[in-house]
Amino acid sequence: MSESVSDLWITPSVLSADLARLGEESAAVLAAGGDRIHFDVMDNHYVPNLTFGAPVLKALRDYGITAPIDAHLMVKPTDRLIGDFLEAGAATILIHPEATEHVDRSLQKILDGGAAAGLVLNPATPPDVLDFAMWRLDWILVMSVNPGFGGQKFLPESLRKIGMLREKIEKSGRDIRLAVDGGVDAENIAAIAGAGADTFISGSAVFGSSDYKATIGAMREALAGVAAAGRETR
Ligand code: DX5
Ligand code: ZN
Repeated sequence: MSESVSDLWITPSVLSADLARLGEESAAVLAAGGDRIHFDVMDNHYVPNLTFGAPVLKALRDYGITAPIDAHLMVKPTDRLIGDFLEAGAATILIHPEATEHVDRSLQKILDGGAAAGLVLNPATPPDVLDFAMWRLDWILVMSVNPGFGGQKFLPESLRKIGMLREKIEKSGRDIRLAVDGGVDAENIAAIAGAGADTFISGSAVFGSSDYKATIGAMREALAGVAAAGRETR
């Protein structure tokens, strides 16, 4: 890795926030050093859990959250909701290829609406699903747990996939973020960055801690070590 630590984004997932205080909690993790907000949308159909929709994202905007909010849509079908999330003010819309009939059309809809577009790979989804989509992508997100719940354990096989995707991105010559979602904490974040990720989504490790600043700070410190090592080996 050759990034400086500021190229590496830590993105708290508000799935694990105190949802009765979502505005305050979002402001708190941003003040504690989070780079953006990750917003997990679940429909009890594509994934076996139900969370929140576009009006809740809009409510965060109205509350005064101006940082980028990345909407991770675990919903099937996706296209109508893409429109809702564009309107609500999502910076990035991340979709699962298995959840939409026409992946290219869905990506185009996101991009036409002015948001960044990303595809999400489940643990058993092979990277070649991206081959004819790379040119549309701003983000690739590797699920390092099965989607649907916070607080699961990081699947170690994800590291190999992150490495493969880093190579694919380098080969494409495109500026694509490589994000990892699920079971990310201060203990494993360095290994995940070492494998090639640049964007770290973390829910329960951040919101389950009593001091958001200390937790995000510990993650940042672990990442600084990886960035420094990357510079030395260049
Ligand atoms: C899982 C979600 C994740 C979740 C991560 O389906 O996509 O964003 O919030 O939570 P942790 O960090 O607790 O695994
Ligand atoms: Zn997510």
